[in-house]
Order: sequence, then C-alpha cells, then structure tokens
Amino acid sequence: MKSLRTQLTDIFSHAFIAAGMEGRYGTVGISQRPEISDFQCNGALPAAKAFKKKPREIAEAVIAALGSNALITKTSIDGPGFINITVSDAAITSASGELNGIDQNANTLTADKRMTVIDFGGPNVAKPMHVGHLRTSIIGDALQRLMHRLGVPLVSINHLGDWGLQMGMVIKALSEDKPDLPYFDPKHTGAYPDTSPVTAAELDTIYPASAQRCKADDAEMKKAQDITADLHRGNPGYRALWRQLVDVSRAELTREFDALDVHFDHWRGESYYHDKIPAIVEQMKSSHHAVMSEGALVIPFTEEETGGRELPPFMLVKSDGAFLYSTTDFTAVDSRVKEFNAERLIYVVDKRQSLHFVQLFLAVKKTGIAPGAELLHIPFGTVNGTDGKPFKTRAGGVMKLGDLISQAIDKAREKMKEAGMAAGYPEDEQKTIAHAVGIAALKFADLVNHRETDYIFDLDAFMRFEGKTGPYLLYTAVRIKSILRKAAERGFSEAALSVFSPGERELMLRLTRYPDVLVSAYETLLPSYLCEYIHETAQAFNMFYANCNIINETDAAKRGSWLSLCRVTLTVLESALSVLGISTPERM
Ligand code: ARG
Repeated sequence: MKSLRTQLTDIFSHAFIAAGMEGRYGTVGISQRPEISDFQCNGALPAAKAFKKKPREIAEAVIAALGSNALITKTSIDGPGFINITVSDAAITSASGELNGIDQNANTLTADKRMTVIDFGGPNVAKPMHVGHLRTSIIGDALQRLMHRLGVPLVSINHLGDWGLQMGMVIKALSEDKPDLPYFDPKHTGAYPDTSPVTAAELDTIYPASAQRCKADDAEMKKAQDITADLHRGNPGYRALWRQLVDVSRAELTREFDALDVHFDHWRGESYYHDKIPAIVEQMKSSHHAVMSEGALVIPFTEEETGGRELPPFMLVKSDGAFLYSTTDFTAVDSRVKEFNAERLIYVVDKRQSLHFVQLFLAVKKTGIAPGAELLHIPFGTVNGTDGKPFKTRAGGVMKLGDLISQAIDKAREKMKEAGMAAGYPEDEQKTIAHAVGIAALKFADLVNHRETDYIFDLDAFMRFEGKTGPYLLYTAVRIKSILRKAAERGFSEAALSVFSPGERELMLRLTRYPDVLVSAYETLLPSYLCEYIHETAQAFNMFYANCNIINETDAAKRGSWLSLCRVTLTVLESALSVLGISTPERM
C-alpha cells in the first residue's frame, strides 16, 4: 500500500532523475496553500543550490520531465520555485477507497522493521500507581499499538519495581506488627502459608506509614535496608512473604491496567534480573570497564565519552555490596538483547529520570553489551493540577490510578446525563459507554500534548463533547455509525466514491493522508501527530455532514457516494483511535 503523497514522491523523484538530478529532491509534501493546490514539491530549491542554477529553471525542467500520468491534473510554480500540485478527483477517490483496507495493509508502510523491546508502565509493588504511571502506560501502549499496526516486531515489558527498598520497608513493618507470622521465624521449616497476610488495601497504607518512619529515623531506615539486602540474599521467609506481596499487588495492578485496556507481553519485575547480575558484574570487572571508586564499583566516563558534559559515573555495585536500579537496568539491556535479539530498546519513562538513561546508554555503548542496538529514552512531562503544581488528591496525597479511572468514568456519566446521551439505554450499556468515554477522555487528553510538555489534569475540560477531546471524537465516530445504521434500515446502499462538492474533496484528501500520519507518528514516536490528525479529520467530517443531508438525498449515486465516504471516514477514525488505545461504542 502506498499513500497518495508517496505515489507523488515516486513520480517527482523520477522526474528529477529524468532531468539529470538525484531522486531525493522529489519529496512531495502536503500543500502549504490548500486554497491553490493539494500538494507541493520544494526540491527545486536545494537542487538549484547544488547545481548552481535558478530554482525556477529547475522546477520548469522537472515539470517538463513529468510526462503524463493519471494522478496529476495541474502543476504550477509558485514563489522562488515551489511546485504546486493538484491531483485528479479520481486519484483522490481511489486512494480514499483503498483506506478501507488500511488495517490489513498498514504493515507495508514502513521498511523499518527492527526488533524492538519497549519498556513502559513499570509501577512499583506495594506503592500505589500514580498519575505519572498513567502517562507511561498510555504513551507506551499507543507506541506499542502503532508498531503492531505497522508490522514492527515488538516485545513489551512491564518493568515492575518489585525489588527495591520499599519491599524492605513493608516487610519490616509487618515483622513489627505481626511478629508471630512464620515468615519471621528463622526456625520455621516446611512450606509457608499460601495466602497473603495482608490485602491490597492494607498494603496501600502500610508502605507510606513505614516509609515515613524510616525517613524520620536513620536506625529504622537501616533496618529496612538490611531486610532488603537479606531478601536479595535469599532469606526464605522474606522471599516467601515477598512473593505474596508481589502477587497481591499484581492482582490490583492488573485490574487497573485492564480498566485502561493496556496489556504487556511480559510482566518482568526488577527481581527477574537479580540472578543475572553477578555474571555481568564479573564480566565488567574482568574487561576493566568497571573500576572501584570509593568502595563502589562503577563505570566511569571520560570527557570525550560524555562530550564534555559533567557526568557522574554509572554505579554497578554500592560500597555496601548492594545492587541498584541502575545495575538492574544494565543487566536488563544485556538480557533483552540476548533473549529477544533486540535491535532497538525503548524506555517510556518520566523525564525526571533522563540523567539515569543518559548514563545507562553511555555505559551500554562504552561496554559494547548491545552492539548495533539503538537505545531510546522516550521522556514525558509532569501532570499538574489546576493550580499548576504536581497533581495531588484533595487530601494532598498522590492520586491513585484506580481512583483516577473511577473519577473519569463517574465524570463521563455525569456529562452524558447532562447532554441527554444514552438516555433510556439499559443500565449495563450506559455503564459500558461511560467507561469508554471516560477512558477516551483520559487517553486523548494525555496523548494530544507533545509528550514532553507538562499538562494540567482537568477532568471537566477532558470530558467536553466539543473541542479537541476524546469524547468529541467518539461522538463523531458514533454519529457516523448511526448514519450508516439508518441508511441500512432504509435499504440505501453505498456506491462508488465521487466528488460532488469541495467539502467532500477536502475530507477525502485529508483521509488519504492517514498512512503518512501513521508513518510520521512512528518515525518520531510521537502519538500527538495522530491526535491532531484525528481531530482535524473529525472536524472535516462534521463540516461535510453539516452541508449534506445524506439520508434525505434522493439522487442514489450521490447518496451512495456519501455513504461510502461515511464508511471510509469511520474506518480511518476507528483505526486511528484504536492505535491510541481508544475504542468506540456502537451508540451513545
Ligand atoms: N519503577 C520505575 C518508576 O516507578 C519505572 C521503571 C522504568 N523502567 C526502567 N527500565 N527503568 O519510576
């Protein structure tokens, strides 16, 4: 499958070659002046520089070399030497029609099929997921879906924080509250209980309370650190208890990820890499990449390696012998490259961890543990409250993801009621619709921003049925479904696409850009491209629809073409929304 723009690029590349220049000058883009043309090619300007000629002369030569083709009906030269291109209505209708098969054919759109491991989500066991985890989950999942759609081989990993100090803090608190539990009895033999001594809800309060005590008192902190070290060394009681805490936490996290419709190929906690660490540490020592510094084992960087930037060395082993977050990530790179033959490793993690990834990637490059693989940190900004400060609950704590999701769904319900939507539908369906609207609102509001900018969490704004929001897009898609349903009830059928008015032409032209937008979103790993596109397309559809009374149209060819246009628009909208992880209800 080739987009209209790509087909034009092929034609212009050949024309440049025929006129004695390199084909790369033939890149065609969308028109900067839509009132006079559909596309434009600006290659004459750089070509003129290279060949020391006037850009207009080159543009004329290229146009002369175009020859005849069915796509282009008009070309003209604008300004210093831009070539304006108008395509035929037939080219537009045929490219639009092809979009009905976009989901089956999108795997032909890109040649970049590098084996990719994407690491996102990564909540921490025992600590509630917060709004930052909402961002990594939504953005990471959109990238995962995008790559799946484009046929890029991919493994997604939920890098659960299940091995850190918080585990020691929780175990410590339990050993004080419930010292009689068998986990804390060094003489215990045989199996440990097979159910957890605490519920998920209890965990939510145990961790913050214990963390607070440890932070206030060095001796308490030391105890938590010792327990963590003991857990790592394999203390059987701690390991058994740890397993149950992880399971309890995981069940809760799974519910939240399911509610978001976010899924992973692997849930692989930090603990997974623990046993692999000694070997890689040995390897780093014997290859002299790692050296001792103030009792710790580190990978230092030279000024040349950091490009003159002041950078702390990469820590592998602390002076007390403990492994760190960085040790695990380093080991995980090695493991992922070996196990999955990864050619690209992507980390969707808060931009506040940027320094860690700069160090990690430098250490990987320096030690050569991932030869030929590209490592990418996809950072994202902070979610703020309407007061402009990092988003908190009313009580001042960190908002839990589960609460956030329920709030969004409740808000969706409220707004739907206000708008008289889904009135009289069965209760179950109303619930399903409210869920879809709430999740669409959350996801779209997050993805529409350039991922590195901070944004304000404002459910009221996210949930509006007009403007650049998830609910507006769902509403548009559902409206098209309802038109198609009505038409089917009256026995009206779809017919060949043709152009009857400028509004339709504009909508179709926009639809034909969908394959290009998918590719741009992939090449930049920016889902926001898709968001802008979906929104503009929905607007173009609503404009077209306001001017065409489809159901009451008596000319069957016209009505049939319009219905086909509704169908293609729906296909594109639903396809693009599903890449963002947003699903469309049948009715609202
Ligand atoms: N658990 C970490 C956090 O909550 C995120 C993990 C990101 N992934 C990684 N490989 N470091 O901040």
